[in-house]
Amino acid sequence: MPAKTPPITLLWPNKPSLPPPSNPPDPQHLGTFPTPSDPSEASLHTPPNALYHGDNLLALQHLRCSHAQQIDLIYLDPPFATGRIFRTRQTPSNSPITAYRDTWSDKAQFLSMLYPRLCCITELLSPHGVLIVHTDTRFSSYVATLLFEIMGEESLQNEIIWSYGGRGAKAHAGQFPRNHDTLLVFSKGTPTYHRQDRILRHPKAQLPKHILIDEQGHPFKTSPRGDYTDQSIDRLALEGRIYYTRNRQIRIKYFLEHDKHHVLEPKHIGDVWDDIPDMMHCPRTERSGYPTQKPLALLERLLRSWSNEGDTVADLFCGSGTTLLAAQRLKRRWIGADQSDIAIQTTQHRLLQDPTCPTFHLYRLNEAATPHEQPTHEQPTHEQPTHEQPSHEQPTHEQPSHDPSAPPLSSTKRKR
Ligand SMILES: C[S@@+](CC[C@H](N)C(=O)[O-])C[C@H]1O[C@@H](n2cnc3c(N)ncnc32)[C@H](O)[C@@H]1O
Repeated sequence: MPAKTPPITLLWPNKPSLPPPSNPPDPQHLGTFPTPSDPSEASLHTPPNALYHGDNLLALQHLRCSHAQQIDLIYLDPPFATGRIFRTRQTPSNSPITAYRDTWSDKAQFLSMLYPRLCCITELLSPHGVLIVHTDTRFSSYVATLLFEIMGEESLQNEIIWSYGGRGAKAHAGQFPRNHDTLLVFSKGTPTYHRQDRILRHPKAQLPKHILIDEQGHPFKTSPRGDYTDQSIDRLALEGRIYYTRNRQIRIKYFLEHDKHHVLEPKHIGDVWDDIPDMMHCPRTERSGYPTQKPLALLERLLRSWSNEGDTVADLFCGSGTTLLAAQRLKRRWIGADQSDIAIQTTQHRLLQDPTCPTFHLYRLNEAATPHEQPTHEQPTHEQPTHEQPSHEQPTHEQPSHDPSAPPLSSTKRKR
């Protein structure tokens, strides 16, 4: 047997090794939401929905014991070393508060934070589970290489380009404006994939050339006969599904739904998604005010594509809780984590406001992350959003509220 070729690896100074499994301190249970009317109910009824407040490495150490190979879909939208401090404004005072810092001394420090987390996360995936990492132009190749190393190159299922467009992306000299993010989809097994269609509504008065109308007024489109045998063609002819071109070529008819004024054409969605606008163009009611919030439509499509009702979905950089909300609306169970007070407060608020809100537990993870992993508190060198304060400035009113009735944040205009 030839020796197995070692995987191609990414190296950087002080690359950490995989943290050994350990027994982390039990997370502190802060409460069950919505508050059960009978407190004894809370301990009897222990659904797996859980929100962890704290460093996700601690959450991962805990989940490695309780959920090894049990999570069906994990979505991660980590910070990507933008050099920014993401702030938001809290109503009614409208004073800026830090949601989270994304300032690192260098790329190596950032990769040293991400790498052990990616290693642990893959241990939680069920045999056919899917990991989706949301990245940007600068980091997608680093993340892909790390995941090739951890999961194997054959684990890459898709590279989805989310082209959010329309944001007046900043033009830099000598390059096209950047207006897409990259979603890397990995799985070690063969994941369940559900084809997603987008429905195009064509006005009957202006049908595209490929849509035809038969004598009975039914709209249809056609495709070449492909591998159909003569027998199958005869059967389809009896069903009225054969179309002859002018030069007597056989094509197969596909009837389309229609109403009085429109023909509805389902279009298979490919790996470039340009039909989901960014948060600035989402309905106002969807905007939580948390910076870098992602649209629900994006998460719903991902969850519909690669998970089923009853599956367990996790997001360990959950921010404003978009993935958890999408999961609960689509009847998936969920686990979330974030170390930002504002993120947890926003997530709780969004979940509890939603009519579908199931019971969930809130836990506090008690240990601080090791110092080399923490974002630096240096003045970031990258361009700053105009409303940001110097990074060393700590607002005094940033205490976690854990109060789901806390007022929502005012809306933010930035995407990272
Ligand atoms: C890009 S945001 C996620 C936004 C989210 N997808 C949404 O729709 O709102 C990244 C999040 O990762 C969190 N984060 C960064 N490092 C973390 C860590 N070590 N543990 C837990 N959360 C972390 C930040 O607080 C921030 O909320």
